[in-house]
Amino acid sequence: MYRPWGDRMTEKGLEALFSETRQFAPSPDFVSRANAHADIYGLANADPEGWWRQQATRLSWAKEPTTTLEWDLPNARWFADGELNAAYNCVDRHVENGLGDRVAIHWVADQPGEERTITYADLHRMVQQAANALEELGVREGDRVAVYMPMIPEAVVALLAVVRLGAMHSVVFGGFAADALASRIQDSDCRVVITADGAFRRGSVSPLKPAVDQALESCPGVEKVLVVQRTRTPVEWVDGRDHWWHEIVERQDPHHQWRAFNAEHPLFIMYTSGTTAKPKGIFHTTGGYLTQVATTYHYVFDHKPETDICWTAADIGWITGHSYIVYGPLINAATQVMYEGLPDSGGQDRWWRIIESHKVTVLYTAPTTIRTLMKWGHQIPAGHDLTSLRLLGTVGEPINPEAWVWYHTYIGGERCPIVDTWWQTETGAIMATPLPGVTATKPGAAMRAFPGISLEVVDEQGHVVGHGQGGYLVITRPWPSMTRGIWGDPQRFFDTYWNRFEGRYFAGDGAKYDDDGDLWLLGRVDDVMNVSGHRLSTTEVEHALVSHHAVAEAAVVGASDEHTGQAIVAFVTLKLSATDAEADHAQTIAALRQHVATVISPIAKPRQIILTPELPKTRSGKIMRRLLRDVAENRQLGDVTTLTDPTVVNMIAGLMGTHSSDD
Ligand code: WTA
Repeated sequence: MYRPWGDRMTEKGLEALFSETRQFAPSPDFVSRANAHADIYGLANADPEGWWRQQATRLSWAKEPTTTLEWDLPNARWFADGELNAAYNCVDRHVENGLGDRVAIHWVADQPGEERTITYADLHRMVQQAANALEELGVREGDRVAVYMPMIPEAVVALLAVVRLGAMHSVVFGGFAADALASRIQDSDCRVVITADGAFRRGSVSPLKPAVDQALESCPGVEKVLVVQRTRTPVEWVDGRDHWWHEIVERQDPHHQWRAFNAEHPLFIMYTSGTTAKPKGIFHTTGGYLTQVATTYHYVFDHKPETDICWTAADIGWITGHSYIVYGPLINAATQVMYEGLPDSGGQDRWWRIIESHKVTVLYTAPTTIRTLMKWGHQIPAGHDLTSLRLLGTVGEPINPEAWVWYHTYIGGERCPIVDTWWQTETGAIMATPLPGVTATKPGAAMRAFPGISLEVVDEQGHVVGHGQGGYLVITRPWPSMTRGIWGDPQRFFDTYWNRFEGRYFAGDGAKYDDDGDLWLLGRVDDVMNVSGHRLSTTEVEHALVSHHAVAEAAVVGASDEHTGQAIVAFVTLKLSATDAEADHAQTIAALRQHVATVISPIAKPRQIILTPELPKTRSGKIMRRLLRDVAENRQLGDVTTLTDPTVVNMIAGLMGTHSSDD
C-alpha cells in the first residue's frame, strides 16, 4: 500500500517528540469556560442531528427551521425551511443587543504606527453603506462578486455587504496572478469585482488593480469594479466601469434594510486546487455553514466574548480567513486583531509586539509560519510579554512535533493548550481537533473528531483499519458546513468526494488512530501539494510549465521540505528546437520559475526545476510520478520494472544535483 506518511515516522531525531504517549493533560483552569465538558462527545454523538439542531439556535433566524437534515447523497440540505441573513447575524444583531461599542476589529497595518479600531457600530454602518453602494452598482440576489483585496477592514465589509444582498462572494487570494484571477472570474461568471489599488508588503507596494485590468480583458461579463484606495499609487481607470470605494460607498445612506434568505441560499464560492489543472469552485450555503463555524469557534477557541482578543493570523483569501476571521468570530461577537502584513513587516519581532500591545489571548496560525518564527529564534519572542495568551491553534498541514513543542514552550509559556485543527475548504469548518480543557493533547495529533462529526480511517477497499494502522480518512455522516458542491460541476463533486468509498466522503488525506484511539493526520494521498499551507495541484503547475514556449513536457511532484512542509519539484523536457536557444540552463530555469509565478502565483514557483532529456514513462506512456517523487526526496527508487527505459530515472537522479535552482 502507498504510504506517503512513511518518512514522517522515521525522520531523524523525531522519535522522542513523536511519542504517541507524550500527552499534555487538560488544564483544570479551562473546564467549562465555554461550557465544554467531557460529556459533550457522548451527547452530540448519541444524536448528531439533535445536537446540530440545538447548535443552530446560536443564529438569529427570521424564520426558525423545522427540519434538520435532508440527505440524498451527495446532496445535503440542512435546516432547509429556515430563513436568515448572514450579515444580520454577524453585525446588526450585536448592535441591537447593546454591543455597538464593542471593538470588532483592531486593525494593524503592515508598517508599525498605523492602526484602526472598528466597533460593531462602525462595522454596522460600513456594511450598510457598502450594501447600498453594491445595489447602486447593480448587484442583485444570486449574483457573483469577485473580491481581490489586501487584508484591510474593507475586505471584511465587502464580504458582509455582498451576502447581505443575497449575492455570493468569490474571494481570490491577492497573491494570485492575472490569469488565475481571470479563470476564477470566468468560471463563476462574476458581474462585479471589488479590489484595491494595491497592497503593502514589508512597506513596499504590491499592485492589485493592474492584475484586475489585465484579467478583465478576458472577462466581458464584469460590468463594475469597486476600488479601495490603500496605497495611493496611480492606476489606470476605465470610466463607467471603475468606481472608487471612498467616492461611492461613503456617500451612501448608513441604513440598509436586510432581507432573509433561505438556509440553503448560496453564500460564497472559494476556489481550491484539486487533482486536475482546473481549480474547483467549492461553494457553501448559509444556515449549515454559519451554524458550524459559530459552534466550532465557540468550543474550539473556548471563546469568551467579553475578555478575549482573538487573532487568526490568516488571509481572507483562504477558507481559514472566511470561517475564522469573518463568519465564526463575528457571529460570536468576538473582538479580533486583523493584521495586514507579513510576519516580519517592521521586524522579526512584529508578531510579538502585536500580541503584547493588544493583549491577544487566542492565536490561530499555520505550522509553516510557526516554523519560520522558530527559525528566527526563541530569543525574539522571549523579549516580549506574551502572558496574555491563553490558547493557541494551528491549521493547514500536519504540524511537526518540534514546531508544536516550540509553540507550546516559547509562545504558550507551557500553559496554553494547543488546538491542532484539521479541516478543508470543502468541510467549511473545523472537523477534528482537541477541545481545550476537555481533551488531552499530543504534539502532532489532531486527537478527535469534533462533537457531532464522525470520522473513520479505512483501507483501499473501504474497510475500517485497526488502531495503529494508517489509511484513508473518510467522513461517514453529512455535517452542516459541508460544501454543497463544485460550482457548475455536480458530476465532478460526486466523483471526487463521494465515489471512492461508498456512502462516505473521501477527504484526500492519510490518517491513523494510534493505540490510544487518538487521531493523527499524515498528509495528502493524492496529487494535491501543500506548500506553506497553500493548496496547489501538481497538474496545475505542469500546465503552467507546458504553456511556456520552450517546454515540451513537465512532471511535477511535491517533495517534503523542512520549511514549507512540501516543496514543488518539476522535471522538464525542452522542445528540440528550444534546446540550443536555451543552452544556458540556469537562465532557462529562472525563466520557467518566473513563468509559473506569472501564470499562477509566486507561491507556485517550483523550488527546483530539473531539465532532463527524458521523463520516466511506463510502456503505456504514463509518466511515473511515484519514481520522480522518490528522486526528489532522495529515496531509494521503487519498482522500475514497468518503465520503458529504466535507466532514465537514474539519469534524472544524477541531474538533480547539477541542474537545479534553489532560491
Ligand atoms: C491539510 C485549510 C493536518 C489537509 C483549512 C487538508 C491539515 C488540507 C490540517 C485542506 C491539520 C489542514 N493537520 N493536515 N491540522 N489542516 N490540513 O482546503 O491535507 O486549504 O486536506 O483548508 O490541508 O486545505 P485547505
